[in-house]
Amino acid sequence: MPRLDDARIDELVVKAWEARLNAYAPYSQFHVGSALIAADGRIFTGANVENASLGLSMCAERVALGSAVSAGVRSFAAIAIAGSGPDGVTPCGACRQALSEFNADLIVLRCRPDGTYGRLSLADLVPSAFTGRGIGDERKTPVLSGV
Ligand code: THU
Repeated sequence: MPRLDDARIDELVVKAWEARLNAYAPYSQFHVGSALIAADGRIFTGANVENASLGLSMCAERVALGSAVSAGVRSFAAIAIAGSGPDGVTPCGACRQALSEFNADLIVLRCRPDGTYGRLSLADLVPSAFTGRGIGDERKTPVLSGV
């Protein structure tokens, strides 16, 4: 994992705010940016991308995650999320689940407009996350067994 010293965290926070500038949010007007740092130190960013078919809108966090995974990166240390609101933004339930697929203990930095941030652990945001292990167990127990 990369050393997440203060300078590296500051860099991640700045990149999340920069990514927010590219948010496409004409429907909610709620602009969000994110920056995800991989175990190898590379940083991937995302912004929310909305759609007139509102349910198709994508959160900044999953855009960053998709960018990283499609570049072949699957191991992550931390994500910074930048949005307005006095306490910044914590990831929605769907993004929490998507992120926990790759690191249940991911560090989550909720960045506030005043430049400060709060530090959380994804494990605290997603207690008892559903994981692929559950799917593996299910495969060993055919649904129709005993019928
Ligand atoms: N949104 C994010 O991008 N990340 C979050 O963590 C919360 C919500 C986006 C989705 C939608 O485009 C807008 O913010 C309002 O919900």
